[in-house]
Amino acid sequence: MTLTGRNFIEPPDFTVEEIHELIGFAERIMAAPGGYAERAKGRLLATLFYEPSTRTRFSFEAAMLKLGGQVIGFSGEQSSSAAKGESISDTIRTVACYADIAVIRHPKEGSAKVAAAAADIPVINGGDGGHQHPTQTLTDLMTIKSEKGRLSNLKVGLCGDLKFGRTVHSLARALCRESGIEFILISPEELRVPDYVKLDIGRGNGSTFREAERMQDVIGELDVLYMTRVQRERFFNEEDYIRLKDSYILDAGKMELAPQDMIVMHPLPRVNEIATEVDADPRAVYFKQARNGMYARMALILSLLGIE
Ligand code: NCD
Repeated sequence: MTLTGRNFIEPPDFTVEEIHELIGFAERIMAAPGGYAERAKGRLLATLFYEPSTRTRFSFEAAMLKLGGQVIGFSGEQSSSAAKGESISDTIRTVACYADIAVIRHPKEGSAKVAAAAADIPVINGGDGGHQHPTQTLTDLMTIKSEKGRLSNLKVGLCGDLKFGRTVHSLARALCRESGIEFILISPEELRVPDYVKLDIGRGNGSTFREAERMQDVIGELDVLYMTRVQRERFFNEEDYIRLKDSYILDAGKMELAPQDMIVMHPLPRVNEIATEVDADPRAVYFKQARNGMYARMALILSLLGIE
């Protein structure tokens, strides 16, 4: 495989085999990180974060630093010329004069694609509005594989804001290409998954979906429960957010209804949707998931830079 020089805007940019290779690479790095400490020496990663971020930005920065590379970037457009009205294309063309690879997060859907078209360095989508978040998906797949031992024949519950939640859109797009995934889409009626994601699932490798409104009705049959935050920043009005924000709260009582080998995932940040009492349950893997994210990004950076 060669991922050298390519962009990663959404999961289908890479084949299923390429994604599996990346996960395997991330696992090898995680097993012996010291062996990779100088691999990206002399290389520069640019982080263009027009939207808030903790895990995505820090894990990218930590990944590059742990590879011996360096990082430049901004967090919040007020500190770049975007505040003066500069376009994404011009900003990324400029950044590409200095850096070897870039990751961009932006509130507008399609922004990462625009950036990739303008830059002659690999561009990674760190989240474009309510659309896609492919590196979270790498992290999620790596976590499912390590916790469940497989990426096929799984019943996966996606729960919460399935309308605006980009992590869910990317995960569904990637997982439906594995074999025999049954999705149970748990959301209030107003926050259902967009049609394009349903179309993807329908065209997947034997994947199916059904929709549910109550978590309690389906939790007992799941292998994976993927919780998400209601995406306040993408709502048109605050009343709707307030009405829907606490639609699902996973607590110890609901965990009693879940299978002993089900795992609970969450891309984080969580607000109210998982009670902190669940954190001590061995089935809760969301902080492991956050940790995996750094290794997944180390593998991705090295692969796009063409470093073995
Ligand atoms: C997610 C995001 O930014 O889409 N966070 C993350 O990258 N881990 C999820 C969220 O903000 O709810």
